[in-house]
Amino acid sequence: IRALSRTSSASLEVADCLKNLPSLIHSELKSSNKELEESSHYLFDGRGKAIRPTMCLLMAATANCTSYKRSFISPEQRTVAMVTEMIHTATLIHDDVIDNAWIRRGKDSVNKKWGERKAVLTGNFILAEASRVLSSTNHPQVIDLLSNVLEDLVRGEVMQLDAYSDNKDILFEQYLQKTFKKTASLMAYSCQSVALLSGLNDEKLTAAFQYGKNSGLAFQIIDDVLDFQASQSTFGKPVSVDLKLGLATAPVLYALEERPELLKLIKRQFKEKGDVEYALAAVLDSSALEKSLSLARQYAGNAVGVLAQFSDCEEKYKLHSLTNDIIQRQK
Ligand code: FPP
Ligand code: MG
Ligand code: MG
Repeated sequence: IRALSRTSSASLEVADCLKNLPSLIHSELKSSNKELEESSHYLFDGRGKAIRPTMCLLMAATANCTSYKRSFISPEQRTVAMVTEMIHTATLIHDDVIDNAWIRRGKDSVNKKWGERKAVLTGNFILAEASRVLSSTNHPQVIDLLSNVLEDLVRGEVMQLDAYSDNKDILFEQYLQKTFKKTASLMAYSCQSVALLSGLNDEKLTAAFQYGKNSGLAFQIIDDVLDFQASQSTFGKPVSVDLKLGLATAPVLYALEERPELLKLIKRQFKEKGDVEYALAAVLDSSALEKSLSLARQYAGNAVGVLAQFSDCEEKYKLHSLTNDIIQRQK
């Protein structure tokens, strides 16, 4: 944010929106129940990466510069950016209940601090308020686009919990579908929404969607790599948990290409004694992490490629940098 505010006044607009986001969100999360208000405000502390609203605001400015040659942000576009952070945070609160995780963004998770039942209700409250805020755009198509995201998030999470196929050829395809739903969908549809609010034509709306989709896929693959590589203190959340949760992400699926015996472990979701350790060693002793990084780079390259369809402006190059940061991140 600080880097953005040193640049032109158009960028200042993006930077201002980002700086004000936590307090704007707090003002939408008011409740007569003070504990609910506190638990719902808790993760909007200005310390998160804010990747989704940043992407959304930069895409809004890029789209506006393409259609009007002026890259200001409209109030409706800012609302979309705000709603993406609210939806994302609500799903993280529910995710930590499902994953039984005690740390989020370097501090106690909502379920650790307030217990599971209140965490579920806190997530529901944020989601309810996000829906109300979204409806204030008064734009049925945008409301429809972001409703797809809510459905995708639930379907993605359900796909992840369900039993895995024993056909190795469809495992990777299922992983990519799940990854789109659980992570890329929010980025894809929110980028498309701000472009729609800018009045862009269908071709550019598709480009905005593709930018968000490809950046989102890259983002989640890096997340899955960091689960094997990062330290808890840098990542701000538990690491080495995916195998323990029974999840076969890109690194394990690439390790499977070199170690066919992993298929039965994947199928039984690493439930037998020694499965987690065996799969972990197989990932670390193979080229799985390198192949996963290379796949993430490929999606990032696709994202940057579609940016060619927008007019040149400062924010477009910031989108380019954002995608590069996504694949270089350590947290
Ligand atoms: C984080 O994944 C989780 C998600 C991106 C989506 C979670 C979605 C749900 C819990 C469905 C509920 C949906 C709504 C609309 C409230 P992760 O566990 O791999 O990441 P982590 O390492 O950050 O925990
Ligand atoms: Mg989790
Ligand atoms: Mg999870």
